[in-house]
Amino acid sequence: MSAENLPWVEKYRPQCLDDVYGQTETVGTIRKFAKEGRIPHLLFYGPPGSGKTSTIIALAKELYGKNYKNMVLELNASDDRGIDVVRDQIKNFASTRQIFTTGFKLIILDEADAMTNVAQNALRRVIEKFTKNTRFCILANYSNKLNPALLSRCTRFRFAPLSNDAVRERVEYVAKMEHLHIEAEAKDTLVSLSHGDMRKALNVLQACQSALDNPGTDEIDSDMIYDCIGAPKPRSIETIFDAIVKNDWADAFSTMIKIRRVEGLALIDLINSFVDVLDKYELKPATKAKLLQGLADIEYGISKGGNDNIQSTAVIGCIKDALECEA
Ligand SMILES: Nc1ncnc2c1ncn2[C@@H]1O[C@H](COP(=O)(O)OP(=O)(O)OP(=O)(O)O)[C@@H](O)[C@H]1O
Ligand SMILES: [Mg+2]
Repeated sequence: MSAENLPWVEKYRPQCLDDVYGQTETVGTIRKFAKEGRIPHLLFYGPPGSGKTSTIIALAKELYGKNYKNMVLELNASDDRGIDVVRDQIKNFASTRQIFTTGFKLIILDEADAMTNVAQNALRRVIEKFTKNTRFCILANYSNKLNPALLSRCTRFRFAPLSNDAVRERVEYVAKMEHLHIEAEAKDTLVSLSHGDMRKALNVLQACQSALDNPGTDEIDSDMIYDCIGAPKPRSIETIFDAIVKNDWADAFSTMIKIRRVEGLALIDLINSFVDVLDKYELKPATKAKLLQGLADIEYGISKGGNDNIQSTAVIGCIKDALECEA
C-alpha cells in the first residue's frame, strides 16, 4: 500500500522516539536504558491512543534498524488468546540462534490484558525461561487486569492521556503535511474532544478532510469536528439545557428527542457533553455534586442496557432536581 492510501494514524506513526509526543519522561527513561544497553522487561499501560505501541516500535526501530524483522516479534494477545499459540511462537522465535547479530531479541506482547489468567500464568514461566537472550514488552490498557506475578517481572510505565498541547502539536504537524486548512476554533474543539487520544484526533481529522469538497482550499470548521466525532454541538446542549431548566417536562423531553434525532446523538453522547460543559456554568458545589452523581447513575444504567426513554426522562429529572439546590 502506498503512503497516500494509508490511514493517517499509520502514515504518521512515530518512526523514532523523537516523534513520540507528550510522553517525555517515559521516553527519556527508556532512552537511557537503551543507551546503557540494559533494557529490563517492560510494561506499558494506559488509555488507547497514548502512544504505547508507537513507543516500543520506535524504540525497536532505533535499536535494530534493518535487523528489525529478525530481532522483534510482535504478538497481539487478543488475536489468539490461547497460550499454546503464543508459547510456540515465542519459543520458536526466542530459541533461534542469532548468527549475525548480538544483543537481546525483543518480544512485544500487545493487548496483554485480553489474555486469560491461565495464559498469563503460563507466560511468566516463558518469560523466565527466555530472559537470557530476550526482553519482553507487555502492552495493556489496564494494569489491574494483569497477573501480579507478571507485573513484578516488568518495569512499569504508565502512559497518561496525552496533554492537549501534545495533541495540538501533532495535529498541527499533520495538517501542515497534508496541506489542510483548519479554523483555530475547530482545532481547539478537536483537541479538547479527543481527550488525550491521539488516534482519535488523527482519525477525526482525516474523516473531516475526506468530507471536504475541495480539500486544497476549504477550511475545516468546528461543526464538522462535532459531526465527525458524533458529539453534540455546544448550542444544541445549551438548547436542551435551557428547555430542561425553563420548560415543563413534556417540552423538555420533546426538545431533547428532536435534537437527538436531527443530530443522530445517543443519550450517552449527551451525558458526556453535559459533564464536559458543567464547568462553564456557575453552580454551587452541592448542585454540581448532585448533578454528577445523578448523571453517573444514568450512565451506568445505559451501560447495563436500560430503556432509552426512561433513561432520557431520568436525565431531565436529574437536572431539574439538582437545580432545586440552586434556588
Ligand atoms: N505520543 C504520541 N505521539 C505521536 N503520535 C501518537 C502518540 N500516541 C499515539 N499516536 C498516534 O496514534 C496512533 C495510535 O497510537 P498507538 O498505537 O501508539 O496507541 P496505543 O497507546 O498503543 O493505544 P492502544 O491502547 O489502543 O493500543 C499512532 O499510529 C500515532 O499515529
Ligand atoms: Mg497499542
